[in-house]
Amino acid sequence: MATPTRVLHVAAEVFPVVKTGGLADVVAALPVAQAQQGADTRLLLPGYPAVLESLDGARGIIDIGACFGALRVRLLLGRLSGSRLPAYVIEAPYLYRREGSPYQGPDGEEWPDNLQRFALLGWVAAHLAAGDADPAWVPDIVHAHDWHAAMACPYVAEHPPTPAATVFTVHNLAYQGLFPMHDWALLGLASRLLAPSGLEYHGQLSFMKAGLKFADRITTVSPTYAREIATPEFGCGLDGVIRGRGAQVLGILNGIDDAVWNPATDDAIAERYDAERWQGKLACRRALQQELGLDQDDGALILTVVSRLTAQKGLDLVLGALPDLLAQGVQLAVQGTGDPALEAAFAIAQRSHPGRVQVCIGYDEARAHRLIAGADAIAVPSRFEPCGLTQMYGLRYGTLPVVRRVGGLADTVTDVRQPGGTGFVFDEATPAALAACVARAVATKRDPAAWHAAMARAMAQPLSWGGPAREYLALYEEVRAGRGGRAGG
Ligand code: ADP
Ligand code: GLC
Repeated sequence: MATPTRVLHVAAEVFPVVKTGGLADVVAALPVAQAQQGADTRLLLPGYPAVLESLDGARGIIDIGACFGALRVRLLLGRLSGSRLPAYVIEAPYLYRREGSPYQGPDGEEWPDNLQRFALLGWVAAHLAAGDADPAWVPDIVHAHDWHAAMACPYVAEHPPTPAATVFTVHNLAYQGLFPMHDWALLGLASRLLAPSGLEYHGQLSFMKAGLKFADRITTVSPTYAREIATPEFGCGLDGVIRGRGAQVLGILNGIDDAVWNPATDDAIAERYDAERWQGKLACRRALQQELGLDQDDGALILTVVSRLTAQKGLDLVLGALPDLLAQGVQLAVQGTGDPALEAAFAIAQRSHPGRVQVCIGYDEARAHRLIAGADAIAVPSRFEPCGLTQMYGLRYGTLPVVRRVGGLADTVTDVRQPGGTGFVFDEATPAALAACVARAVATKRDPAAWHAAMARAMAQPLSWGGPAREYLALYEEVRAGRGGRAGG
């Protein structure tokens, strides 16, 4: 029997321990789905307090000693509680022993030593790949997620005897990990890499570019986003680098974790339901109106938003469309956190429309489930969206997505005007286009047969991680078979 492919997933977040967005959901689910298909997958994570606390059976693998400005660095191996997967954790108190966001201090500013914090992550990945850190388990593939893990790619590439291949997944090209050039020496890489053909990006160091230049293969989280990031409109200044990698850039659509997002088994919601037993959704709907203080109106369309409040997500369009939505009789239930200006604007909207608009500023995983189960529709009007998970959660819960035709939203939602339609899709990033799209949802809801047919189709969408996990495994095989195509350097 062939030995299973050993895959090391390197990331800065994992659900439920540390999560700022969809990256954490992916890192929790994809490696498990791959393990179910026979791969030998492990994680490598920074040792934030929450990660160390949830690491069961931790044992020391190697004392690394002083590096990247930290005096005491150790590699541990254990299992995150509730997960079957082994996880390597970098214990470096000086760099990681901080509460709150993995990326920013309490003042909302990036941690000033993020270069060291995330270079260390990639550097340890490369040492695992080289067989130095844990000779008992040497990965065939180092799979790095987003800029936080991207430095694994040049560190592996610059160590030629390393047999492992690297795959770099872009979850969001807009966050690039840019640092001042004068910190170059901290990275310990050859000076020829300090050039536009290497890590230099317009006079700064770019970790994202490091991943894009030095990974054996690049993936991103939907086929449409893979095409978009090769264009100046969506390429965030790196479209030339992406185009330079040509066919080595692949879009693989994310899945959703059925163990977490499934209305038939969800502990967080008022009543469980599935495509055959509808009544539960009605109970969730009423419970949500009650919980949020929305008018108990069975006829109104409840539109939810569960999102980071950032420019990416296009939520200014929701605010702009609000008068129109209210005129249509829509109830709006928002949960989000982020940009203070958007938070304030949504809070004002709530105060101005009691019973019709409810806004929960903050982060609450269980309430996200109740919102998605209880609403009729979920709005994701993003300006760009690499994949987007909440519209897929909406599909799974029979909560029809209202989305802009962009990135992964375009790949996961079919407009009800098309055969097999599962939601409502609009093109222009304007409040009027969003309002017109919601108006179509309101009209469809008045025709219960049409609405239920769309719900049934939405809930039947194959969204599991099985397919994507297989695609990544096939990619690993391909890249291992054809080593030598590494760019950069
Ligand atoms: P992104 O990663 O760009 O934020 P995704 O749609 O891929 O967008 O993933 C967002 C994830 O974060 C989902 O799991 C969503 O439920 C969750 N989420 C976002 N905002 C909140 C919030 N305020 N409270 C709870 N969960 C949230
Ligand atoms: C990023 C993207 C989002 C994607 C998620 C998981 O945060 O913004 O679109 O779903 O990563 O891949």
